[in-house]
Amino acid sequence: MLERKELLKTGKAKSLYHTDDPSKLIMEYKDDTSAFDGKKIEQIAGKGTVNNRFNSHIMEHLKKNDIPNHHLEVSNPNESIVMSLDMFPIECVVRNFAAGSICKRLGLEEGMKMEPPIFEFFYKDDELGDPLINDCHITAFGWANEKDIEAMKDLTLKTNSILVSLFDAADLILVDFKIEFGLADGKILLGDEFTPDGCRVWDKETKKKLDKDRFRLGLGDVVESYQEIAHRLGIDLT
Ligand code: TMP
Ligand code: ASP
Repeated sequence: MLERKELLKTGKAKSLYHTDDPSKLIMEYKDDTSAFDGKKIEQIAGKGTVNNRFNSHIMEHLKKNDIPNHHLEVSNPNESIVMSLDMFPIECVVRNFAAGSICKRLGLEEGMKMEPPIFEFFYKDDELGDPLINDCHITAFGWANEKDIEAMKDLTLKTNSILVSLFDAADLILVDFKIEFGLADGKILLGDEFTPDGCRVWDKETKKKLDKDRFRLGLGDVVESYQEIAHRLGIDLT
């Protein structure tokens, strides 16, 4: 049994703890829900446990489909054991349909299909509002080398193909998502989480929003919608 040690860091939706094994961390999912770079924060009862199970299912599915990631096992209803990674301060976003910041930035109508899917890098910094960056910023500021930049793009687009199919089979549209990578012994792995907090998912027929936009836009039924996605994907939340 892995022993939980001191707090490594606490973020807006999760906390990371050291363990007695230096190569492993405990990731705790909180009920805290944040948006707009932490300007809107609320507690949503039950969200942490739903996201923990959701993430585990997606990470296991990605592992089976050759996307290496840090997830090891669920250890508690709201906790998982993960490999300790040296994270890049970068967010990788893929968009299959226009929504969110790209609509504002480029004046697009929500729902417009992006063909081929659009890949974007963002710099992870709440105070700066997670600005859009490109490969040149990443190499110039030493945030990652060219090989890792290519690996992040390649793995993110592969993750997109795998998950678009998974969601489509459940009559869901994976509109966009954000993922993060890190290194363990020089090897690049998908880290952080994949949950409805970090993606947009719509019902295929009605286009109903089932993700964190329900919180951002004050639409209500946040956890209920996350549970609906999980239920359709066959994810066991117990
Ligand atoms: P955006 O439309 O705000 O740029 O977000 C695109 C997708 O990435 C959306 O599913 C939300 C997710 N995302 C995060 O979860 N955290 C972030 O900091 C950013 C920039 C995006
Ligand atoms: N998770 C980020 C934040 O708290 C972005 C978002 O989801 O709106 O600001």
